[in-house]
Amino acid sequence: MKTQIISEGNISINVPLSDDTSNFLPSSAAVFYNPQTELNRDITTAVVSAFISYKELDPCSLLYADIMSATGIRGIRIATEVGLKCHMNDWSLAAYQLMQDNLRVNNLQAQCSVSHQNANTLMHQESFDIVDLDPFGSPAPYLDSSARCVRKLLCITATDTAPLCGAHLASGIRKYSAYPLNTEYHKEMGARILLGAAVRALALHDKGVKVLLTHATRHYVRSYLEIIQGASVADKTIEKMGYISHCFNCGFRQWHFGLVPGLEQECPNCHGPLNFAGPLWLGSIQDPGFCQVVLDQLDDRRPGKWKQAVKIVAFCQEEIDIPTYYDQHWLCKKQKISPGPIDELVSVLKKEGFASSRTHFSGTGFKTDASIVEIKKVLHRFL
Ligand SMILES: C[S@@+](CC[C@H](N)C(=O)[O-])C[C@H]1O[C@@H](n2cnc3c(N)ncnc32)[C@H](O)[C@@H]1O
Ligand SMILES: [Zn+2]
Repeated sequence: MKTQIISEGNISINVPLSDDTSNFLPSSAAVFYNPQTELNRDITTAVVSAFISYKELDPCSLLYADIMSATGIRGIRIATEVGLKCHMNDWSLAAYQLMQDNLRVNNLQAQCSVSHQNANTLMHQESFDIVDLDPFGSPAPYLDSSARCVRKLLCITATDTAPLCGAHLASGIRKYSAYPLNTEYHKEMGARILLGAAVRALALHDKGVKVLLTHATRHYVRSYLEIIQGASVADKTIEKMGYISHCFNCGFRQWHFGLVPGLEQECPNCHGPLNFAGPLWLGSIQDPGFCQVVLDQLDDRRPGKWKQAVKIVAFCQEEIDIPTYYDQHWLCKKQKISPGPIDELVSVLKKEGFASSRTHFSGTGFKTDASIVEIKKVLHRFL
């Protein structure tokens, strides 16, 4: 395999040489490498570092596992930039050999180890403080084994956004044992379906969760889950599972905690039929205090995608804790009025006494605790 040296963060590593960058498909190379996920890795480095200071942990005592490592870029960045011991794994022989080369290039042989195993076999045999699951596609086949082996922090990427968001319904149901709905807030729906599946997998191993940061960027969802050991914490975490009722006619939505809630069939607003999504995670998906520590880390480190990373995390920090968002354009189209600046709409809602924020999920989206009837009144007064 021909390789080239690239630099990212504080490291330089060998990656597969691409002859024609315009047609380069990361998944078709001998070893997977996607320069566009630098942003994802910049955020991960800041998050792992923030987690250590937030939880006042000793970095020398922590073992981070980059379970699907490909070139090793993620683990090598964590080892170099955060100083953790790392284990890197990939079932591809070419990836395994490239990871070994890259450890040598970065002089990390003493601090890092590599393996060449099926991710599930590895995660059923070993345990790690921090587990990073970064598959190409769905993480669903790895949720049980990662839930077993993780001690402190689980980082999950999902690139199967169509199944998660309800665009590929049967696949979403098969993978996540949940029913998604393709609403105007489908990106958040997808994140919550993924989190719901992760929470249930962790509960099986008597582990509870505090979700620290979740973002949907480009074609993937990424979430960071603090693990809290114990059956009673797992019980409390499961209590934050539930369902969303949604009316496609008027945009009404409601959420219900519990795995067997009684659900009304008719929309109380327009009397149209209600549709149901779930089971999914209804708990918080951002921890604003933690987001601040991540922002501080980003400011100290200034990685390559610093500005984009700050924008995402700052939006996540501001998001109010409501499990759906509204789309101003969708609402205005229904009302036959023209949309206005989203920031102004959010401040008008706040002035009217409602909680409201923008959301990182969508540039035209906003969150609020106002009901659909109240929002429509505000829109008419505002526009
Ligand atoms: C999306 S890539 C990982 C990218 C990498 N984490 C990064 O940031 O550049 C997914 C990798 O997982 C590996 N993989 C897929 N399924 C696996 C499995 N069941 N066990 C081990 N490795 C697997 C693939 O060979 C591929 O290299
Ligand atoms: Zn309705």
